[in-house]
Amino acid sequence: MVNLIRSVNYSHHYAAMAATFCPSLPQHFKPSPIIKFPRSSFSFKVFSSQSSADETPTRVGFLGLGIMGSPMALNLIKAGCDVTVWNRTKSKCDPLIDLGAKYKPSPAEVAASCDVTFAMLADPESALVVACGEDGAASGMSPGKGYVDVSTVDGPTSKLISGQIKETGALFLEAPVSGSKKPAEDGQLIFLTAGDISLYEKVASYLDIMGKSRFYLGDVGNGAAMKLVVNMIMGSMMTSFAEGLLLSEKVGLDPSVVVEVISQGAISAPMFSLKGPSMVQSKYPTAFPLKHQQKDMRLALSLAESVSQSTPIAAAANELYKVAKSHGLSDSDFSAVIEALKVKSKD
Ligand SMILES: NC(=O)c1ccc[n+]([C@@H]2O[C@H](COP(=O)([O-])OP(=O)(O)OC[C@H]3O[C@@H](n4cnc5c(N)ncnc54)[C@H](OP(=O)(O)O)[C@@H]3O)[C@@H](O)[C@H]2O)c1
Repeated sequence: MVNLIRSVNYSHHYAAMAATFCPSLPQHFKPSPIIKFPRSSFSFKVFSSQSSADETPTRVGFLGLGIMGSPMALNLIKAGCDVTVWNRTKSKCDPLIDLGAKYKPSPAEVAASCDVTFAMLADPESALVVACGEDGAASGMSPGKGYVDVSTVDGPTSKLISGQIKETGALFLEAPVSGSKKPAEDGQLIFLTAGDISLYEKVASYLDIMGKSRFYLGDVGNGAAMKLVVNMIMGSMMTSFAEGLLLSEKVGLDPSVVVEVISQGAISAPMFSLKGPSMVQSKYPTAFPLKHQQKDMRLALSLAESVSQSTPIAAAANELYKVAKSHGLSDSDFSAVIEALKVKSKD
């Protein structure tokens, strides 16, 4: 029998955020005990069909129009949905407004004017402030509405947001995505959802506009955990790939040929074929910002820590992302982590 073991490991940092952004929480927010799920109650389902149209909410809000949020909202608009947008930097709303989106000046007003509101924010801090801060989405929520957070955050943050949204009588779904800028543009994302299944069913047709598949993973926190496991593996793969490219060059091989050889063998991966050629040219056009990959490594390591799982490869990879950040590469693509190894080898 396989158990999914989660523990809510609330750091002082999150406790402070919780007190600031969600003042209705008890001052001393206590960690929950470890929860174990027997496999029988840990279900996942993959769907590719459309949900029934009469269940589908009609007015859709979208908060956060960065690399991922903009093309996702754009796909909803292109599909004819009634979309209302908000972004901290208002100028990023303008291209979507030109294409027919409505605009509201705060997350609360978006949530109040929509049946369901999606949020695609950078990290736990921004997801929390947009959902639960002053003029946050929770202030505009009420029974009959739904909040779908598609940002990559940790389980404790997701549970905190869920609690605040559900206190208003609204429903909550966490739905981080696997896939990057191009899959977002092409409506080919993979949604890793957990939370209120009735909301999952209501928004299924929207998920199908923005993505190619969707998993329902049970209780809030399971979607976040799934996303962090996937990105932890991806982050380690990228650092290993970077080491291999640099080693090949040092011993006189052509790294472009290494990329080609890898693409034909058992360790081939779309990521290597996509990023390899530009990495060889020391170019890192941003699809997935390095700062977000390091955030995901940090959150994955914290998840591993909470269940005492050893993750030495991910821990080593995380150090390289931190070095890359310290060299000003936060906003470059995460493949720029190779530069951290170049700097190291010059020492
Ligand atoms: N890019 C990818 O390949 C990819 C793939 C899968 C998942 N993800 C995850 O998806 C999320 C978004 O990624 P992205 O690549 O779209 O990132 P991004 O381009 O950096 O966009 C981040 C968004 O968060 C907003 N934001 C940041 N701090 C904020 C704050 N304090 N208050 C309000 N809004 C704030 C930004 O607003 P401004 O415009 O005002 O800065 C922007 O809308 C992240 O959790 C990331 O890990 C990314």
